[in-house]
Amino acid sequence: MSTIKNDLLLRALRGEEVARPPVWMMRQAGRYLPDFMKLKRQYSFFERVENPELATEITVMPVHQVGVDAAILFCDILVIPQALEVEVQMVPGKGPYIPKPIRTAAQVDALPEVDVAERLHYVYQAIDHTKAALEQSVPLLGFAGSPWTILCYMVEGQGSKTFDQAKAFCFSNPEAAHKLLQKITDVTIAYLRKKQEHGCDAIQIFDSWGGLLSPQDYRIFSLPYIRQIAAALQPQTPVIAFGKGCWFALEEMAQMPVNALGVDWTITPQMAREFTKYNITIQGNFDPARLLSPIPEIERLTRIMLDEFGTYKYIANLGHGILPNVPVDNARAFVNTVKEYVLR
Ligand code: CP3
Repeated sequence: MSTIKNDLLLRALRGEEVARPPVWMMRQAGRYLPDFMKLKRQYSFFERVENPELATEITVMPVHQVGVDAAILFCDILVIPQALEVEVQMVPGKGPYIPKPIRTAAQVDALPEVDVAERLHYVYQAIDHTKAALEQSVPLLGFAGSPWTILCYMVEGQGSKTFDQAKAFCFSNPEAAHKLLQKITDVTIAYLRKKQEHGCDAIQIFDSWGGLLSPQDYRIFSLPYIRQIAAALQPQTPVIAFGKGCWFALEEMAQMPVNALGVDWTITPQMAREFTKYNITIQGNFDPARLLSPIPEIERLTRIMLDEFGTYKYIANLGHGILPNVPVDNARAFVNTVKEYVLR
């Protein structure tokens, strides 16, 4: 049993009764927080990620300043391509850039066998530091990108609205695509197992680009690999699978060995419950842009979301990452509304 003082998130993941739903926000570590902006001016993105003291400081910021019920380690999903010796740059104001993207079967075959724990040692140091800093106050979430989402960046080489080069690679060269997806899956499993060992209390898998696939292609290129990762982590660590735009796959995702499914704001709570047969914990789904509404409106809409999801088998969250231009008070209004919520 966990000795975490505020274990609401872990209880919700186990499907236990809770006094109120837990609340955290995707991408809560950084972005909109003034103290994070200061560090951002001083250190580059990967300097922040690779320095355990800085990563810890950023990870605990939203716990102390906004009052969320869980911490999520400050890091990035793109450390996995880096571990595979694929160079990733973070271009300020633009996002990830991969100078030599993977475009051929030969490049897939040339990816090295790596000891991920050794390559990404700084992540585990950051977890150890953060666990100590949190003093068992709230759970610490670890995370990884889904293999499909990682492939999107490795093949496209940068962010994209359509990731059409990534899709072209998969559809014209499925054998190489599956080799790449399996390679990413194997490395991700090793990476996350080590996070388990270092005490991450739950793991979220971000399938940020799953919604770009058709339901048929989702079944081929994304779902089986998320399932492998989730199965490898069970039963020790609860797993949340978040598929942005993946409402069409919810029914099948609910069959995976996961404890919760994350949903975005384009689906109603009732649809999410129906698609998952009222059987699994759901996390979401406040529109991140709605945190730009006036505070009374944020409070009203948050209460509606809670009324519709109910307090059982539910984790309050945004439907995707918090936006950089959200005032901290608005984020606090969202979190506090959940914390003060009583069933009416
Ligand atoms: O939740 C948290 O705050 C923990 C930290 C975290 C980051 N990235 C820090 C970050 C997490 C969980 C991620 C995941 C991530 N990274 C995803 C999946 C979640 C999602 O939003 O869909 C994706 C797709 C990425 C790839 C990535 N990293 C992009 C597209 C960008 C640039 C755009 C942006 O989000 O600002 C990044 C950079 C990045 N990762 C930043 C942060 C705080 C901003 C850059 C900086 O601080 O210098």
